[in-house]
Amino acid sequence: MCGIIGYIGPKDAVPYLIEGLRRMEYRGYDSAGVAVWTDDALEVRRAAGKIAKLEAALVASPLSGTVGIGHTRWATHGPPTERNAHPHLSADGTIAVVHNGIIENSTALKAALQDLGYEFRSDTDTEVIAHLVQELFDGSLEEAVINALRKIEGTYGLAVVSSKDRDKIVAARKGSPLLIGVGEGETFLASDPSAILAHTRQVVYLNDGDVAVIERDKYKVIDIDAMPQPRTVDRINWDLAAIERGGYAHFMLKEIFEQPTTIENTMRGRLILEDGTAKLGGINLSHEQLLNIDNIIITACGTSWHSALIGEMMIEELARIPVEVEYASEFRYKNPIVTERTLCIVMSQSGETADTLAAMREAKRRGARTLGLVNVVGSTIAREDDGGVYLHAGPEIGVASTKAFTSQVVALALFTLKLARKRELSVARGREFAQALAALPGQIKTVLDTASVIEAIAEEFKRASNFLYLGRGFNFPAALEGALKLKEISYIHAEGYPAAEMKHGPIALIDEMMPVVFIAPHDAVFDKVVSNVQEVKARNGKTIVITSRDEPSLKGLVDYEIRIPETADMLMPILASVPLQLLAYYIAVKRGSNVDQPRNLAKSVTVE
Ligand code: F6R
Repeated sequence: MCGIIGYIGPKDAVPYLIEGLRRMEYRGYDSAGVAVWTDDALEVRRAAGKIAKLEAALVASPLSGTVGIGHTRWATHGPPTERNAHPHLSADGTIAVVHNGIIENSTALKAALQDLGYEFRSDTDTEVIAHLVQELFDGSLEEAVINALRKIEGTYGLAVVSSKDRDKIVAARKGSPLLIGVGEGETFLASDPSAILAHTRQVVYLNDGDVAVIERDKYKVIDIDAMPQPRTVDRINWDLAAIERGGYAHFMLKEIFEQPTTIENTMRGRLILEDGTAKLGGINLSHEQLLNIDNIIITACGTSWHSALIGEMMIEELARIPVEVEYASEFRYKNPIVTERTLCIVMSQSGETADTLAAMREAKRRGARTLGLVNVVGSTIAREDDGGVYLHAGPEIGVASTKAFTSQVVALALFTLKLARKRELSVARGREFAQALAALPGQIKTVLDTASVIEAIAEEFKRASNFLYLGRGFNFPAALEGALKLKEISYIHAEGYPAAEMKHGPIALIDEMMPVVFIAPHDAVFDKVVSNVQEVKARNGKTIVITSRDEPSLKGLVDYEIRIPETADMLMPILASVPLQLLAYYIAVKRGSNVDQPRNLAKSVTVE
């Protein structure tokens, strides 16, 4: 979603701002802008659409100065036009603001400001902040911002500059991430570390309630009462290469092909083959606490929710603890049964998804212990959970989640193994499962070797208008995930169903125009799935079958076959999801979609 960048230092801010905005493009946006102090005035350039449009505006009307802020906006209040793009200027042009989040009392604040004579030039909630800071300004920008924050309700990550208190950027965070990048004689502000990684690895993550005053060679973090808030300097430990395409046509393709390594990284140092268990340093759960868990709730959104469904089945199967999977957006407004012996597992690639964060806070408030399975190091969920397991999949830039999904399932498998071995799983079964996990990276390589087969299938179906994805047991969530991948990047309508449910409704859709993807490896429910394939074939549907053996029972039923290796039933969805990702990818590319930045989608959904 929206991105914030700020620069203050000896050099021209504009190239830094544009580069930072480009690095955050993957998050999804529909307009962009910058504000720079040019020695004469605070000047703003904005454009609807992609950053290239903003660059064109800067060529037509150049800007230069050593203090600046920039923004990519994902429209919430008002359409994605130039007038709604950030930065927003105060009425007298002395204050410029960029803002992520939503000001919930903007209507009331706007009315009060209009009564004072302020005229509004945009449809945004952000513009009230600019006028409010102007109204409250009395010589010190941080004081004016703090006084404005006292009146604001809602969520924000914001950055403010002023031509009346020039050599600083004032930033504030509540519910929307921000960090300070500490450089040599220059300081950065960003909502995403990838925006500044090319210039510094030293970062200070702001917490909710923090206000930061950023100057060229120093910064301070205070709270709304101006009390100093000591914050540590962290080091970003991934390379620039991780956020670059490295020869691949798209980030999504690169991330699909990275999976042998990312899965290896998720397991590194954690899998203990000999004892058939896993070592997870960060979970902060004692032996007794692990034994005393009565029930588990896993909460998440989107793809992370699909991984949670697989986790549910693994935990119930091996650790024999009841598990419920809840959409985070639903959980937070329910009256869930949570006790001190409930463990709430929170799945999130970004660690910033607003609903997931709120669900975690709600579970905590009700007394549950929380365990975050998160990819982005230092993200809000990772910092607020009681314990955590980082995925170590590296930055995921493609909007459609791929490598984070497989790492999530692996992280859930590791946790299951640890939990189950504490309870009733034998060493022998634990070892078997651990060995199956250890073999996954090599097996994914084998699946990736079939990419050209999948590309050829994509060619056949690139014009389809609908797709059905069917699987049973552990592969039902894989069917949901396959359908989600296809619809989000190719815009083809696709549904995932448990294979046997098809005859309770979706079977009405089957005809010679309907491609049906079956996830049918040789597992405990294989024969049942074959019956479902027969039902589709009997109605002339087109079958694309992902399977793991030459099976006589499938003869004559398969129009297109994709072969995957065999593994433990529970881990099959990991291997099956790779061809599903590739199928979605190739179809989307052949249809000319913008695979890495699909329409309307954002990488981390920081609004409710
Ligand atoms: C789908 C996708 C989304 C996310 C969802 C949750 O490809 O990426 O469905 O999975 O928005 O995001 P995180 O995992 O960051 O909480």
